[in-house]
Amino acid sequence: MKIYTAHPGHHIEGLARRDAERPPLGPRDVRVRMRAVTLNYRDLMVVSGNYGLGSDPVVPVSDGAGEVIAVGDDVQRFAVGDRVMGSFFPDWTEGEPDAWKTKAALGGSRPGVLAEEVVLDQDAWVRTPAHLNFAEAAALPCAGVTAWNALFESGPWRPGERVLLLGTGGVSIWALQLAHAGGLETVITSSSDAKLERARALGADHVVNYLSHPEWDRKVLEATRGEGVHRVVEVGGKGTLPRSVTTLRPGGALALVGGFAGFDGAIGPMSLMIGAKRAFGVFVGSRKMLEDLARFVEARALRPVVDTTFDFDDARAAYAHLESGRHFGKVAVAVG
Ligand SMILES: NC(=O)c1ccc[n+]([C@@H]2O[C@H](COP(=O)([O-])OP(=O)(O)OC[C@H]3O[C@@H](n4cnc5c(N)ncnc54)[C@H](OP(=O)(O)O)[C@@H]3O)[C@@H](O)[C@H]2O)c1
Repeated sequence: MKIYTAHPGHHIEGLARRDAERPPLGPRDVRVRMRAVTLNYRDLMVVSGNYGLGSDPVVPVSDGAGEVIAVGDDVQRFAVGDRVMGSFFPDWTEGEPDAWKTKAALGGSRPGVLAEEVVLDQDAWVRTPAHLNFAEAAALPCAGVTAWNALFESGPWRPGERVLLLGTGGVSIWALQLAHAGGLETVITSSSDAKLERARALGADHVVNYLSHPEWDRKVLEATRGEGVHRVVEVGGKGTLPRSVTTLRPGGALALVGGFAGFDGAIGPMSLMIGAKRAFGVFVGSRKMLEDLARFVEARALRPVVDTTFDFDDARAAYAHLESGRHFGKVAVAVG
């Protein structure tokens, strides 16, 4: 079978398509013919050597969907022909995170899904929402679950409460779709007016161009009648954190998700103390969260936004497209 390997530190040029042995099938294992994967910012960090993986080649990418083609003798949860997606942390099935549950992650410390076939324990797979194609289903495991976790796993929401989303990448567009479907008021930022128009079409209530308005936090406050938002899905880190805190209303919370504008940021304690604001970290999520997300997506007939789908042979071009920042939502690679 064909797989890709990524060589940490060798960047996109280090991605190589190779022949590999089919992985063996244990009694609890499910063999899946992958049909599509989607990329995350993390996959760029892996190839650039900024993900703490050492220097050995890895099979990259965490998010994939496909069809079950074989099951081990003890498998109860799936049958040949089922359409499934892999869970980001194969060992975190439910409950609170724990070091042992988040140690193994697909496309990182465990081989990923940019391969024609993937074999994982039955506990690591979830059925895809029936109305989604494979590329759409492949958008759920990391970006979708992260957005779900940041929005709905910490504290209850009341309809009409407000959330701020930063940029129009994979996590933020997911969060926009989920928040809108969940009855929240949404504000989203982007560097591009054309992307903001697309965000409006997905239900964004307020949009702010952060390039035209470098003090975008003021615009967010204006849009929310000076009151601020209840939550920020904070994907920017160092470059956005201080302004994100300013947009929070008293009692509001930062869901600390990412660092596309730097992972080493800091905010002063006073900025949270005044107004009893809080911050919490988000680390993708469990298989249970993926199942809950899939149920919600199916019930609301949501379709994740797949910007472009590249051929398996063009995986490097898919990475380059993600790196360019031209995308809106997710970038996918069809497998086979
Ligand atoms: N903690 C976790 O479990 C977890 C899970 C998933 C992702 N993450 C992190 O979350 C972040 C986003 O990931 P992603 O996969 O959604 O990335 P992505 O799809 O690559 O998002 C890129 C988009 O971010 C926007 N952006 C870039 N710089 C910005 C800035 N200074 N201010 C506002 N927006 C900016 C741009 O949107 P416009 O083109 O609209 O300007 C860009 O297109 C990354 O840091 C990633 O590592 C963390």
